[in-house]
Amino acid sequence: MSDRSLAPASGGTPDTSILTAAELDSIRRPYRGARLLPRRAYHEPAILEWEREHVLRRDWVIVGRVDEAPDPGTYFLTELDGEPILVVRARDGVLRAFYNVCQHRGTAVVEERCGKAVRFQCPYHAWIYDLEGKLVRAKHTEDLDDFSFEGYGLRPVGCATWQGFVFLNLDPDAAPLADQLGDLHQHLGRFEFQDLKPARTITYDVAANWKFIAENYSECYHCPPLHPQLNKLTPYDIGGDYAPEGAWQGGWMELVAGAETMALDGGQGSRHGRPPMCGMTAEDERRIFYYVVWPTAFLSIHPDYLLVHRLIPVAPDRTTVICQLLFEPATMAAPDFDPSDAIAFWDLTNSQDWHVCEMQQRGTRSSSWVSGRYSNQEASVHAFDLMVAERYAGLPFSAARTIRERYDVPPPMVAPMGQMDAGAAFAGTHDAAEHDPHEHDHPTTGRGSHEHAAARTTARSKATTPH
Ligand code: FES
Ligand SMILES: [Fe+2]
Repeated sequence: MSDRSLAPASGGTPDTSILTAAELDSIRRPYRGARLLPRRAYHEPAILEWEREHVLRRDWVIVGRVDEAPDPGTYFLTELDGEPILVVRARDGVLRAFYNVCQHRGTAVVEERCGKAVRFQCPYHAWIYDLEGKLVRAKHTEDLDDFSFEGYGLRPVGCATWQGFVFLNLDPDAAPLADQLGDLHQHLGRFEFQDLKPARTITYDVAANWKFIAENYSECYHCPPLHPQLNKLTPYDIGGDYAPEGAWQGGWMELVAGAETMALDGGQGSRHGRPPMCGMTAEDERRIFYYVVWPTAFLSIHPDYLLVHRLIPVAPDRTTVICQLLFEPATMAAPDFDPSDAIAFWDLTNSQDWHVCEMQQRGTRSSSWVSGRYSNQEASVHAFDLMVAERYAGLPFSAARTIRERYDVPPPMVAPMGQMDAGAAFAGTHDAAEHDPHEHDHPTTGRGSHEHAAARTTARSKATTPH
C-alpha cells in the first residue's frame, strides 16, 4: 500500500479512531482470542458517517462497467456516496469522471442516465462543457472579475479501470488503484473480464448493515444449514483461502463430481453447453472463486459466468445490494442462451443470506449482545473485520491475517491472548500450523489434513500464488 494508506486515516493518531483502543484491541488479536466488531459498529449513525468520510470517500469503489461507456462520446451517470457523477469516454478514448454539477448555479448538467454526446450543455443557462469537462461556452461572462473558463470546468473525480470495472475515488489525493488492489491483479490476471456483459441485474434493499453482508459473504460456516442447494454443489469444507497482499480477501470452493456450475438444477448439463470464460484453466473449471474487493464489492467467479455484488450503504441498518450475472458476449449470442437457472440459484441464495443478515441486524439491536466470537470456520470473517478495524484505527491494512489454505484444516494455533500482544502474536506465526486432533480425510476428496500444513497466519508481505 501507499504511504497514504499508512497514514492514520482519521488524520491524527489512532486515538482519534471511531472505536476505543480497547475495542480495537479486542478485534486485532489472533482470531481465537478475538471478538467481532462491537455492536455499535453496526448500529450507530456516527460510525456510518465515519465510514462514509474515511472509506467511501477515500478509497477506490467499483461503480460500474466500462461497457457502459464503450465509445468516444458515450457516457453514463452513477453515484458514489450520494455524489452525482458523470462517467464519459472522451475523444482520446480515455474514461473520465466528473461531478455532474454545473459550475454556474449547480444544476445537474446531464439528465439521461446514459447516452452519447459531443458536448454537455447545462439545461438551465446553457453553459457548455466538452467531453474532457472543460467549460467551452458561458455567455455573458466576458466582463466578470477573476473569472476564466479554465477555472470553471466540471470538477473531476478519480477514475480507473480494471478487469472491465470502473472504480471511482472522491479523494483528489488518492493513491493509485493498483496500491489498493495489491496483488489481486495477479490472482485474476489470467482472466479477461473486460468484455463480459450483464445478462441480469437484480437490486435488493436489505435491512442490514453493509458489514454484516460482507461478513456473511466471507464464510461458508452458514452454508450447511442455510444453503442446502449451494452446499450440495460446493460442500463448505472443500476449498481454501488465499493470503492477500492488499485490500481484498478471497478463496475458492470445489464443485462436487458431476456439478458444472452454480445453478438451480446443479449437476450435469447445468451449464447448458456454455463454454468456460476466457482464461479458465481445467482446474478453474472445477472451482468457484469468491473475492471481497474492499470495500463494498464481491466477485464470484464461476466457470461460465461472473457474479458481482455491489453494496451501497444507505443507513446503519439499510444497504442496497446490486447483483449482476455477467457472461461472455459470444455465450450470450448463442440462440439457446438461457441463464435463468443460474439467476434463480443466486436469487434464492441471496434471499437466504439477506434473511439472516436482517435477522442479525434485528437481534444485535438488543443490549444483551455486545460482540461475538469467531468459530474456527470464520477466520475469513475476522480477516474482513481486521480490514475494517485497521481503517477505523488509521493503520495499514492487516499486518497479518489468519488464512485457511484448506477448509478441512483448522487455522493455525497461535499463542493465546495474554501471552503476547496481538501484533507480536501475529508476527511470529508464519507457517505455524498445528494439526487438529479431529483431523479427517474428506469423504469426497480423500485428502487429509495430515498431508501438509495447509493453514497459517500470514503477514501481508507473504508471497502467494493464486492456485
Ligand atoms: S446552472 Fe448551469 S448554466 Fe446556469
Ligand atoms: Fe450465504
